[in-house]
Amino acid sequence: MTRKPIISGNWKMNLNHFEAIQTVQKLSYQLTKEDYAAVDVSVHPPFTDLRSVQTVLDVDEIPIKLGAQHCHQDEKGAFTGEISPAFLAKLSVKYVIVGHSERRELFGETDEIVSKKIDAILKQEMTPIICCGETLQEREAGETESKVLTQIRSALTKRNADVVSALVVAYEPIWAIGTGLTATSQDAQAVIGAIRAEIADLAGADAAAAVRIQYGGSVKSSNIAELMAMPDIDGALVGGASLETEEFAKIVQFRNVRS
Ligand code: 13P
Repeated sequence: MTRKPIISGNWKMNLNHFEAIQTVQKLSYQLTKEDYAAVDVSVHPPFTDLRSVQTVLDVDEIPIKLGAQHCHQDEKGAFTGEISPAFLAKLSVKYVIVGHSERRELFGETDEIVSKKIDAILKQEMTPIICCGETLQEREAGETESKVLTQIRSALTKRNADVVSALVVAYEPIWAIGTGLTATSQDAQAVIGAIRAEIADLAGADAAAAVRIQYGGSVKSSNIAELMAMPDIDGALVGGASLETEEFAKIVQFRNVRS
């Protein structure tokens, strides 16, 4: 089973809509047809940028996929400040990050809420990028797999194999996010391999062989090739380095980068 790599830029709360337009245009000058053929590329700007970025991608026919960082689990209602997955679908958003550790830790998102959001995203025919990961304390206590696999079970239980095959999972050790610390490619492979084995148990071997699993946490052009050489790592969810278009383009072009 060959899985097409997917490299996603999570801009977090950075770049206003003017900066977003420039960033996407600059990125498009650096990426080639071959890059898009080899790798799915998505950018996940803040909500206020989405319409502007959608327009640029559309008008300039840039094959970067539009992503969002978050959404509410309901379609509409009295949820001040929240964004409906239906609104995102209307903007041609393809991928929605869900359960990012920053949402879980800073905004109290539980496994139960994450599971509801996944339902809501799938209902709008978008693809969730489901995040999981352990804290440093959990890693040091030897609890990495139990934490991560609990998150995966909660997100994926009772979903049929076809649905699971088309999902994206992102393993992001919390201690590696924005810290400059990266899991070694072997450590990342070990956890991602365990995630794939868990998915085989939950949804069958075919779904596990098809689902794409990204690594996230201080990914840079200097470590991407090594990570992508691992058998179960299918891409990256990139934070800080996705704000620099040259650096992000080099990450997408990991095929040409020597580790
Ligand atoms: P950094 O690449 O800045 O460590 O962020 C990773 C991340 O959280 C992506 O979602």
